[in-house]
Amino acid sequence: MDAQNSKNSTNSPNNPYETVETDGNSRAVSVCMLKGGVGKSTVAVNLARQLASHDHNVLLIDLDPNGHASVGLGFNDHYHDTDESIGDVFFDDADPSSVVYDTNYEFDLLPSSENLEQVEREIVVGDVFQPSALLKREVVDPLLGDEYDYIVTDSPAYRSRLTDNALVATTNLVLPLAPGNEAMSGLERTIERQIAPLRKHMNVDVLALVPNMLSGRIDQQTQDRKLLERLNSHDSLQDRIPNFARITDWEAVDAGESKPTPGLRDRTSITKAYGERKPLLDYDPDCDQLECFDELAHIVEAGEVVRHG
Ligand SMILES: Nc1ncnc2c1ncn2[C@@H]1O[C@H](COP(=O)(O)OP(=O)(O)OP(=O)(O)O)[C@@H](O)[C@H]1O
Ligand SMILES: [Mg+2]
Repeated sequence: MDAQNSKNSTNSPNNPYETVETDGNSRAVSVCMLKGGVGKSTVAVNLARQLASHDHNVLLIDLDPNGHASVGLGFNDHYHDTDESIGDVFFDDADPSSVVYDTNYEFDLLPSSENLEQVEREIVVGDVFQPSALLKREVVDPLLGDEYDYIVTDSPAYRSRLTDNALVATTNLVLPLAPGNEAMSGLERTIERQIAPLRKHMNVDVLALVPNMLSGRIDQQTQDRKLLERLNSHDSLQDRIPNFARITDWEAVDAGESKPTPGLRDRTSITKAYGERKPLLDYDPDCDQLECFDELAHIVEAGEVVRHG
């Protein structure tokens, strides 16, 4: 995978995907993966929450028509109210701030709407100027660095105009993946189908790969271990593995001399927080996995994984 940093890219002057220069302290990030149920919405919500807890102004944009993140944060009514949605910003010149709301958790939300699929169809069939750059032009460029220090987007598990819009608008990706036979194929699909086509036009930077829902032991040949071994030995991926999932000395693990943290663990607090419509920090401030979400926030702040020790 191409490891070039894209932060202050300067593409050709007429390139619609040109990255707008910011003051260097703001960044937009997409949480995406072309595979369902790996924790995209969980990571997006908790990343937004941890960034907000670092005293940043943060906006979460829910671009998944199923609206799980929005409903999970208590925005059920907004999800079903199709009078106001991001479609008004895309097609009717509405101000992006008019579809943004405060959450109770120190960050703002631009919620999904049940008419997002209709918005998607309008982008595809409509006479839209630069259809993959709508989110960037109408929402992210006007708000990032001005209203917000960080913008995080949540995406559906399939490729669509909206997911393309998310990648074009943010250019920085966080990719969650869960153990299992399909883990690496989901990643390969995301790189081949989603990231590579955009790289012809712009720099896209993978900030972090996030192994999630780890439950098995890693001192035996479990699916969890297979995933961690592959990610940590992959030439172009290992720099993107957060410290909470970085394992290099498997012999020490096997000898019982080292018990590294193996990634984001499967925790009932994480599932229950979702049921209670709260970020993990607000549902269970003592949960040991908050450290992982906090490192993710630091990675987004730094623009890369920073190795310690
Ligand atoms: N580390 C974890 N521990 C326990 N439960 C988790 C963890 N991560 C995610 N979950 C739960 O797994 C389910 C799927 O997670 P989530 O909705 O974040 O995945 P997703 O990739 O956004 O799914 P979709 O593709 O449907 O959008 C949710 O019920 C969530 O609460
Ligand atoms: Mg989701």
